[in-house]
Amino acid sequence: MMTLPDAVRDAWHLVAISRQLRAGQVRQIQLAGVPIALFRTEAGIGALVDRCPHRNYPLSLGRVVDGGLECPYHGWRFAASGACVAVPGCTLEGVDTARLSAAPIRVIERHGGIFLALSDKAGPEPVLPPDIGDPALDHFWWQQGVWRGRAYDAIENVMDPFHTSHLHHGYIRHRDRRLPVSLQVRSHGDSIDMVIEQDQPDLGLMSRFLERDRSRSISRYYPPTIVQARWEGTKRLTLCVTAFFTPSTNDSFMPFACFTTPRGLAPGWLKQAAIRLFLRPVVAQDREALARQAEVMGHFGHPQFTTGPGDLLGDRLHRLWKGDRIAEENDPPVKAML
Ligand code: FES
Ligand SMILES: [Fe+2]
Repeated sequence: MMTLPDAVRDAWHLVAISRQLRAGQVRQIQLAGVPIALFRTEAGIGALVDRCPHRNYPLSLGRVVDGGLECPYHGWRFAASGACVAVPGCTLEGVDTARLSAAPIRVIERHGGIFLALSDKAGPEPVLPPDIGDPALDHFWWQQGVWRGRAYDAIENVMDPFHTSHLHHGYIRHRDRRLPVSLQVRSHGDSIDMVIEQDQPDLGLMSRFLERDRSRSISRYYPPTIVQARWEGTKRLTLCVTAFFTPSTNDSFMPFACFTTPRGLAPGWLKQAAIRLFLRPVVAQDREALARQAEVMGHFGHPQFTTGPGDLLGDRLHRLWKGDRIAEENDPPVKAML
């Protein structure tokens, strides 16, 4: 299996939704192969490598006590900074506690998401696509555990319109009743997008319910792990989905999505219920496809992909994933049936 590029490892990653971690709770997550104990005290969030510095017990099995994370084995307690603040039965006076610290990981909470960075190379803040957290819009977060497969293939899946007619037949589009579309790829140097223009909404169930009209949809890849898909009607945004594919290991990842809709179309809870309902089968299909791909690549030991006539992004997606810049240019529009 391919290992994760440094550009991916070193970036900010969404690892949990804020509401999944209440004060006093501890969770174990894995980010790029590093097990991490994530916890919230009244004072804020802490993220420590999931290994007690004393005898290597997993800290994520501990509990939050007096503003710190307490190891279940001997009860050492660690602040969010990693500093050891208590060793039960002993005094810490005159002890060089720096030696006793757990390894802290950078953590930031923004717009209902908890982000971690394993490296100092990540900037001061996660850089997020437009509309995330805009108070004038409705948002809801969605998370689906850990999936088998490579984060990279999940990103490609979301950027690839052709599978939506075939794999998601009936839900998003129809494999035998396709619509004429115009596809255009635009490279922005540090990101890439695909614009799909068509005269009518997709024929699948989901679009019938959510969309009245459609002029275009745009999927944009913000390396290393974010894809934002926007569906625009003739007058305004219908739906914006910002998906995050956080690598847990080389061949597993945590998918997250933030759904953003304009206020006023329908109550937030109704839109949320409708999106969840229609998305469930689509998500299950993608989940299975990604797991099967991973199984085959695992069997052969490596991926071996052929670029077909519909793979309009070519190698640009992968170059961005590795941290390269790509030339800024607009490809000529391509006609296709989706
Ligand atoms: S192993 Fe954690 S306190 Fe001893
Ligand atoms: Fe899909």
